[in-house]
Amino acid sequence: MTETARTMIARLSECVGQTVTLSGWVYHNRASGKVLFVVLRDGTGLCQCVFEKAAVSEEIFEAVKRLGQESSLAVTGLVRAEPRSPGGVELAVTDAAVICPTADYPITPKDHGVEFLMRNRHLHLRSRKPWCTMRIRHTVIDAIRRFFNDNGFTLIDTPIFTAAAGEGEQTLFAVDYFGQPMYLTQTGQLYLESAAMSFGKVYCFGPTFRAEKSKTRRHLTEFWMVEPEVAFIDLPELLELAENCISSLVARVLKDNRRELEELGADIAGLENITPPFVRLTYTEAAEILTSERTQRFLAEQLEQFKTQKAALEAELAQIEAADKKGGLKKWQQEKNARRIPELRSEIAELETKIQNNPKHAELAAGFQWGKDLGGSDETIISLMHDKPVFVTHYPRQAKAFYMKTDRSNPKVVENLDLLAPQGFGEIIGGSIREDDYDALLARIHEEGYNPDDYAWYLDLRKYGSVPHGGFGLGVERTVAWLTGQRHIRHCIAFPRLMDKVYF
Ligand code: 4AD
Repeated sequence: MTETARTMIARLSECVGQTVTLSGWVYHNRASGKVLFVVLRDGTGLCQCVFEKAAVSEEIFEAVKRLGQESSLAVTGLVRAEPRSPGGVELAVTDAAVICPTADYPITPKDHGVEFLMRNRHLHLRSRKPWCTMRIRHTVIDAIRRFFNDNGFTLIDTPIFTAAAGEGEQTLFAVDYFGQPMYLTQTGQLYLESAAMSFGKVYCFGPTFRAEKSKTRRHLTEFWMVEPEVAFIDLPELLELAENCISSLVARVLKDNRRELEELGADIAGLENITPPFVRLTYTEAAEILTSERTQRFLAEQLEQFKTQKAALEAELAQIEAADKKGGLKKWQQEKNARRIPELRSEIAELETKIQNNPKHAELAAGFQWGKDLGGSDETIISLMHDKPVFVTHYPRQAKAFYMKTDRSNPKVVENLDLLAPQGFGEIIGGSIREDDYDALLARIHEEGYNPDDYAWYLDLRKYGSVPHGGFGLGVERTVAWLTGQRHIRHCIAFPRLMDKVYF
């Protein structure tokens, strides 16, 4: 094969009229008489490579014809404009070299259940949906870092091994640290508070661990969180920081990943609406909304919508299945149907879950009592009723963490914030102003039944130049799930860890 430097598919539109070499994997391979159409993927995009029998050797033509999905190969050819091809160009192949032929690749365009895909996650990462999702995750992480770096924050890497709870002892993962009990970090916050007294504005960004016994679509046992912490900040300023951070990362994803968002069927118009100001509610106002007549009416209307949507999708599915059964379809139509059927089945199953959950959620909302933390379904309802993110502030003291500052004008509540993403995605940010008074903090530590010795260094921060300060934590997977419109956050990290499942 001729020696040419490797070109990435993402840059091919700049190479029309040039001969280039691509290296990648077979995404799709179709023979049509004397022509082979191989869609190649190289990690940066897809390119249709056209093998005309007359333009390559007999040996190459026959070898490539037999290549199954995910075979690896290098191809050389002339780049030509082709508006119908992905990326607007295609390759007229003149030479090729097979690297690793593959047969029976287990993941095909047909219907695979989530369980099967997760068990094959090591291969599934090559599929379009995970690829688009991980590209967006990459942008989200880069945008977050950029936002804090550009706004005067110093990165502080906080430890993974910690000696005490930050977010409740029930969700600690214990590890044997040379015979001494230690825990995997639930949050870098307590360490960041120390660093904020040195640098003013700091953030950490890393994996965090929660032995959370909840098998919900919103919980992982290992997830990534960015946590900013700022000295001399009050609650309205903290809300503004969170609002600006979210708005800037949404703008970046819209700018850099529009194609991926489209491919995933994300709500682009909804994301374009994510600009300040977000909605601001107190917990007490949120509780009033939940128990209102208006909410019950809203949920009843929703139930009707779900039923109508489900009936329409079922009709489409029945039509496709009947056409398949009748036979005589062209190959492209069969392939199109094979792709659409699993999509339809999963959308129908999702709607069925929503239909079943709706009355339970309505009952929980109607019976909501002041003092409880907002549950997943309560968050879903509040966020569904708004098309902008919603801040909920001033939760009851007993529902929140020991370090949150008691509101001096209403000691029943704390100066905290949760940010609920719109359209049912629920909480993506949790944060607060911190208790900065030594005695008040010590009293809270006792109330929680924690050992004050474990928090001696943390209490020191309230002894030596204590100042008002606060921060928040933004969960990366929940944010990516919201942006990409995916229900379950397990799709938003390469190798998810769930309470009942660790595949690798
Ligand atoms: O509300 P949380 O527990 O807040 C803290 O950890 C604070 N110490 C943050 C701070 O003030 N510095 O968690 C913050 C965010 C949640 O809003 C959610 O996005 C994510 O972390 N999160 C989870 N994501 C996936 N799986 C879980 N089990 C999560 N628990 C929290």
